[in-house]
Amino acid sequence: MIHALFAQQFAEAMQYEAILAPLDGFAECWQAFVASGGRGGNVTVPFKEQAFALAEQLTDRAAQAGAVNTLYLDRQGRLCGDNTDGAGLVQDLVRLAAPLKDQSVLLLGAGGASRGVIGPLLAAGAASITVANRTAAKAQLLAEQFGSKVSGCALTEIPAGHYPLIVNATSSGLSGERPVIAAELLADCQLAYDMLYGKEPTAFLQWCAQLGVPRQADGLGMLVGQAAEAFTIWRGKRPAVEPVIAALKKALA
Ligand code: ATR
Repeated sequence: MIHALFAQQFAEAMQYEAILAPLDGFAECWQAFVASGGRGGNVTVPFKEQAFALAEQLTDRAAQAGAVNTLYLDRQGRLCGDNTDGAGLVQDLVRLAAPLKDQSVLLLGAGGASRGVIGPLLAAGAASITVANRTAAKAQLLAEQFGSKVSGCALTEIPAGHYPLIVNATSSGLSGERPVIAAELLADCQLAYDMLYGKEPTAFLQWCAQLGVPRQADGLGMLVGQAAEAFTIWRGKRPAVEPVIAALKKALA
């Protein structure tokens, strides 16, 4: 639906469909897709690392993320891998006029979703990123890969501080849970962002609202943002995201 709406904006012909790859046959599935005329595609969980391995050329941001969500064949027919997830998040944060530039960001979670957005958040001007995770060691390991602006700790040991932007990159919302952090950490929070989305606000966003965080946003805008980045790579034209976000919200309601 997202890509159909983007294509409509430019009156471009585009066929974008879901293909369910077998767990042990991602590469074969991609090759069959190319053999049938496929030129590019998005890859989602659990195949982003396999797409990374399959790509002959990687963008810097895909190399940094260690995962690929966008594949395409270049003019020479080489398979290129990019990762537009982080750019999609940044694009959505900019759309929301989120406090990001020169600010301290609190990033909850240290899985693939978190790894993919740290580089783009730094590139967008974040002053520092505190990565907090249920399993502290994973957060510390991840932080070490990004230099001195990024630090890692346990959810229970987040340093008291000024965090105008808090991003939930854990998958806790999928089971109706939220990352458990001290309520005081929300004191200066202006925007709480959850990378997940659904009909109802996630447990994390509900908790933030209850504690008086002025603004909450779910990951629908990030989803549309990463798709817009992918469309731009494939077609060389940047689509408008606002009407597509509005249409999706209506469809989900
Ligand atoms: P993804 O690619 O979506 O990031 P992942 O790599 O499986 O998925 O990572 C899931 C993240 O959500 C992890 O940071 C995980 O914490 P652990 O590393 O401690 O497992 C976090 N997570 C999942 N459920 C959670 C919960 N109920 N509370 C807090 N963190 C949770």
